[in-house]
Amino acid sequence: MTKIFEKKKVEKEDFQKKKGVKSYSRLRGMRDILFDEYRYWDLVIKKANDLSRAYGFKRLDTPVLEKLEMYERSSGKSSDIVTKEMYSFLDKSGEKVALRPEITPGLVRAYVEHGMFNMPQPIKMFTIGAAFRHDKPQAGRYRQFHQLDVEMFGEAGPVADVQLILYAYNFFKELQLDISIQINSIGCKDCRKSYLDKLVKYYKDRSRSPKLCVDCKKRIIKNPLRLLDCKEEVCVAMRAEAPQMVDSLDDGCREHFVKVLEYLDELGVNYNLDPFLVRGLDYYNRTVFEVVLEEASESRQMALGGGGRYDELVEFMGGRPTAACGFGLGIERTILAIKEKNIPLKQEEVTDVFIAQLGETSKRKAMTIFEDLRRAGISVGQLFAKDSLKHQLEEANRLGVRFSLILGQKELSDGTIMIRDMESGVQEVVDLNKTRQEVEKRLNIAKG
Ligand code: HAM
Repeated sequence: MTKIFEKKKVEKEDFQKKKGVKSYSRLRGMRDILFDEYRYWDLVIKKANDLSRAYGFKRLDTPVLEKLEMYERSSGKSSDIVTKEMYSFLDKSGEKVALRPEITPGLVRAYVEHGMFNMPQPIKMFTIGAAFRHDKPQAGRYRQFHQLDVEMFGEAGPVADVQLILYAYNFFKELQLDISIQINSIGCKDCRKSYLDKLVKYYKDRSRSPKLCVDCKKRIIKNPLRLLDCKEEVCVAMRAEAPQMVDSLDDGCREHFVKVLEYLDELGVNYNLDPFLVRGLDYYNRTVFEVVLEEASESRQMALGGGGRYDELVEFMGGRPTAACGFGLGIERTILAIKEKNIPLKQEEVTDVFIAQLGETSKRKAMTIFEDLRRAGISVGQLFAKDSLKHQLEEANRLGVRFSLILGQKELSDGTIMIRDMESGVQEVVDLNKTRQEVEKRLNIAKG
């Protein structure tokens, strides 16, 4: 098979060379979403819309292109997505802009820009859209990917964290994926300060042998909490004995975290405490969480989603002090997990009836009948681009329709149309002006 493809490729290239043209392929790490793939997208997006409605989140969309500075300020100047992965450039008017590497900062900007702090709180919003990270592509990691992003502003109590975790948990559970929630608290800036001193001391005492990775050598100075996030083997090994943030939480942060866990216990949410979960973005405080698949699979190593609290960010981005929390889920990773688990999808939409035509005048009439049936809510198949009856009936069979309508010159001049039962092969001639009623009658009988 590959040999055939190779041969075809060479033939195509030779042909293009002769003609002096070239064809284009996608950029690395970017995907086309082809027809059948949309069956998965529809499923996932429907779940997002249903749960958003159930939990009271309203849709809000923001542009994919925003000021670069906004991401540097929010996602964090030392985060990987800003330092290494952002698609940023000067636009034609010389402004520094970036394709969004994540959706949260845009939603915070919108909250502040539209004065939402003047509306009754909490403000609960969600969006589904593309984000861009110039990362190393692999299965489940793309340079353009899509997130379901859900945010809640103006609610400081643990109930907000819990509602978001519950949303994320139910999203995957109801898509039949076995997941668990990894959870931790990274405290607030006050209690984190003394913890970071302990952490830096721990790493400094040990970092000579074995050596930390290049990135962690910078992290120890710029952003020590992210030392805990490193996936390099030496750094993971060194982390094992590191002090844990949960032991340094102040009273307020501890009480908040305990309440979150108590609610989750009460609601039967399957979670694991992960004392080293810190997340890769700079804005978080208190609760942080990630959603991971329980079973071994290709995408197992990657989180399906993650989020947490970010009570300082709204003020940091020019708004009034506003508690906030949220999460983002990767749509492609979710679909990958659904495919790996072979979860059956609902049957494709059925086509009720097919309309076939023979000759130019019948084609015109057939197009009118098609519109008439479609408006009546009947799903109609057609192949108006082809004239041969054989081709048209093959398409009708492929669609698996119950009835086909056949309109030729003879039927047209008699004011009739033929209805063929595709199961029994029985054909009947009926009044052309009553086509819709005749189709409806037969469909009702067939559907019982
Ligand atoms: P994040 O953990 O960077 O968080 O991304 C959330 C999810 O997006 C990941 O768990 C993953 O499923 C998906 N994702 C991330 N990068 C890629 C990629 N290169 N290819 C495919 N999928 C990817 C955030 O973005 C935060 N804004 C979440 C949040 C919302 N926190 C508070 N509110």
